[in-house]
This record gives sequence, C-alpha cells and structure tokens, in this order.
Amino acid sequence: MKFLLKPTDPSKIEADILISFCWEKDLSETSDISKELSEEVKEGAAREDFEGKSDQLLLLSTRGIISAYKFLLVGLGKREKFDSYHLYTAIASAVKKSREGKPAKIAIVLPSEWLKKFSTPKTVQAVVEAVSASLYQFLKYKSEEEKKKTRIVEEVDLLLSAGKLSAAEEGLQIGEIISASVSFARDLINEPGEVTHPSFLAETALDIAKASKGSIKVKVWEKEEIEKLGMGSFLGVAKGSVKPPKFIRLSYRPALPKKKIVLIGKGITFDTGGLSIKTAEFMETMKLDMSGAASVLSIFQALPSLHPKVEVVGLIAACENMPAGNALKPGDILSAMNGKTIEVLNTDAEGRLTLADAISFANMKEKPDEIIDIATLTGACMVALGQEIAGLWGNDEKMMQDLERSAKETCEKIWRMPLEEEYKELLKSHIADIKNIQTGKYGGAITGALFLSEFVGSTPWMHLDIAGPAYAEKDTALAPQGGVGFGVRLLLHYLLNK
Ligand code: BES
Ligand code: MN
Ligand code: ZN
Repeated sequence: MKFLLKPTDPSKIEADILISFCWEKDLSETSDISKELSEEVKEGAAREDFEGKSDQLLLLSTRGIISAYKFLLVGLGKREKFDSYHLYTAIASAVKKSREGKPAKIAIVLPSEWLKKFSTPKTVQAVVEAVSASLYQFLKYKSEEEKKKTRIVEEVDLLLSAGKLSAAEEGLQIGEIISASVSFARDLINEPGEVTHPSFLAETALDIAKASKGSIKVKVWEKEEIEKLGMGSFLGVAKGSVKPPKFIRLSYRPALPKKKIVLIGKGITFDTGGLSIKTAEFMETMKLDMSGAASVLSIFQALPSLHPKVEVVGLIAACENMPAGNALKPGDILSAMNGKTIEVLNTDAEGRLTLADAISFANMKEKPDEIIDIATLTGACMVALGQEIAGLWGNDEKMMQDLERSAKETCEKIWRMPLEEEYKELLKSHIADIKNIQTGKYGGAITGALFLSEFVGSTPWMHLDIAGPAYAEKDTALAPQGGVGFGVRLLLHYLLNK
C-alpha cells in the first residue's frame, strides 16, 4: 500500500471513497468540496440524525456528483475537545468503515484546521500511522485461495493544499517509518510461539543490526555465558524448556548522545505458567508474552532512520516458560545477578524473574540515565485498567510526565499507578530476600511493579505493564485481532523528544 500527497481538488479525485471531516453541528465545509454534494449531505444528515458528533459517520453514494464513488463524512465532535488522540481514532474509524466497501483506493481530505493546530508534518505523520495501523493484516498463514478473497487497499491519497506539500512530505516519511515498525512488532507477536522462540528473537536482533549497516550493534549471550553473568533468576525460568535461553543486547549510539536510555522488553516466547500451569483458556494467547521484546526489537529497527539524539540500549532476556521434569518448582530459591535471593512460590509469575536479571544487568553494566521496561506482566493490570490501557509505574516524576505527553500525542493509552511502599510488606519471604508472588490476592499489578523496583536501585526508571493493550482479543479500529505492537509509537515518540 502506498501513500500519495496530492494537491488535487477533492471533487475531482478518482477514488473508491473520499473521506472528509466535520465539526459538530457544522456541515458547512462540505460545500467547499461541492455545492451539490453538500445538499446531499444535508438530506442524508437529516435522515440519519447525523450531527457531526465524535465518531458519527455518514456514508453516501455520490452518483457522479463528484469523481469519487462514495463519500464518507466523519464527525469530529466539538472543536475545543479535539486533540491528537481524537485524530487517530477519527481516522481509524473512518478507514474501518470505508473497508466495508472493499476499496482499492481511498482519498482523505486533511482538514486545514488540523494542519494549523498540530502542524502539517505532525498531522500527516499521525494520519499515516492511523491509516496503516487500521489497514494492517496478518495473512501469512491463510491459503492462497483465502488470500485472494481479501481485497487489499493499494493507494491512500492525502489531499491538502499545494503550499503544504513539502512539510507534509516530512511527516509522511516519519509516519511510514513508524508504521513499518509497528507492523514489524505485530508480525512478531502474531507468529506462533513455536516460531518466535528465543533463538529466533536473537536472529531477528542480528538481522536488524545487519540491515542497519553498522549503526546498531547486537550481542547475544548463550546459556553458559548467562550463567557466568550470574543471572540465576532468568535461568530458573528457562530451565524447563528444551529451547535454550538467549540474553540479547542491542545498542544505538548517535554522535554526542544527550542521554543513555535502556529499554527492556519482556521476552517470554511462550508462557504456559510452568508447573503452576495455566488453564487452557488463559494459555490460548500466551504467544503474546514476548510483546515487550517485539516492541523493543521494532523500535531498534526504526532507530537508524529516525536517528534520535539519545543513546539507546535494548535488553531482552528471552526464554520459554514450560513445565517439565527439570522445570523450576514452587519453593525453589533463585539468586539474581545483583545478589538478591528470590523464593519462587508461583512459576507463572515468571516475567518478573527474567526482568529482575535484565534490570540488574542494566544497572550494573550500563550505567544508564534511564531504564524503561515494557512487559506483559500481570493479568491484574488488565483487571484494573482493561484491554486498552497500560499501567505506568516509576520513580521519576519528570520521566513519567514526558511519557504521558507522548501517550497523548500517539494515542497509546497509559495510566499512572502507585508504587506503594507499604505493599512491599506483601513480598517478604521467610526464607529468601523476597518472594515472587504476594501474600493475598489484591493489588497484583502493583506488587509486580514493586518486585521489579527491588532491582532498579536509584536509577530513574519506568515500568509499563502492557498485559491489556499488547493483544487485541477482537478487531478494534486501530488493530485487527492479534498483536498490537503497543509501545512502539509511544516509546519512539518519547525517544525522539529527548
Ligand atoms: N504473562 C502473564 C500475564 C498476562 C496475563 C499477560 C494475561 C497478558 C494477558 C504473566 O506471566 C502471569 O502469568 N502473571 C500472573 C502472575 C501471578 C501468578 C502472580 C497472573 O497475572 O496471573
Ligand atoms: Mn506467567
Ligand atoms: Zn508471562
């Protein structure tokens, strides 16, 4: 699919569908496209009670009044309330609606007010990201016959005035790089766990380094070397699997970097729960448990073309969580790289065990200015925040505010959660320094974050629990059922703003 920027008169554009936008109770802008069309819109709006409210859609056949076959008017709600978040959702729901008509070519009129409000490059970038996200499909495992039945959108024309073209070009480029990165993450997550095993993730990292022509470096530690590093906690999780664990480090370093940021992605390539085995229902989607790692890899894939001014290190402790004769057992005690001992009472709380060592490594070997981990850590976070919102914890106010700003601008929803000191009590072990599950059943997302904080030391740190938004259980406007690539847009935005 390709995007084209065109200064064409919207009434003259040849397309299967022309998408345009209007504010609540203000349908006047359609008359700029065509007087006759605006009469049709008035009539349709009256019939269907269309008032231009947020998410209201009015679909019309143009019957030759304009060159496009169909016309879709998208309500934006009130001007004052409209922000970049609405921009993403308005585009995504418009594209979703358009696809009902199996279009090969879509044209979108970019409202001049958006260009003014968010700037031309930013608007175009967001539009490209939203269109790409909502058109994404994973067809690899469909038969040729099935593939043929799915109509692919071939071209998306973005219509704007000629004077804005060069600024728009800039946004288009960035939008396309970021969109490719999101799709890359989705592909990785959608692949079966049997494909994306730890060695596969390591190979993927090496491929990214190769394609970057030297701007990204990758090192992979094998099992024996991971033992030498002292990562007993990570290795404990990997024990039950026949697939060898890999510790993966990626790095990107611009000239005179302003800061050094370590990104850590949870890389459990399949989470059965181990001996504390999950029920069939909860295991169904557990190939998603490397979503954090997928986002980190995808971010690195995009860094060479986006060249942020900060040094970025990516760390992934990749392994599978399996039950087996030699698997980790409840009651076992593990020793993490930083020397802390962990009593494992539930082998299904494995993500924090792998992250404990990755975070320790970051602290002890990298001397970073910031650590950010992104992990499908707890079902409890999904209970708290639902399927669309990631939980955010951290020990640094400024970092969290910056990330919250990025979340608003990229339409990746996050919500701040407490790092409640008093709950640390719940993680006390009678036999080791800490236990991997809490006493009692409430507040599991918070105690998960508190567990990680034990390995962070005084480094500025943020933790994103993406258990909810990592995977769409059904089709949504911005992602079809499957991997979402959550965090790619968010973290790239964060890095680019440093
Ligand atoms: N990978 C899961 C968390 C998860 C659940 C992610 C649902 C995405 C969707 C994690 O390893 C896990 O199993 N967590 C346990 C922790 C518990 C044993 C303390 C959970 O949430 O039940
Ligand atoms: Mn688990
Ligand atoms: Zn897990």
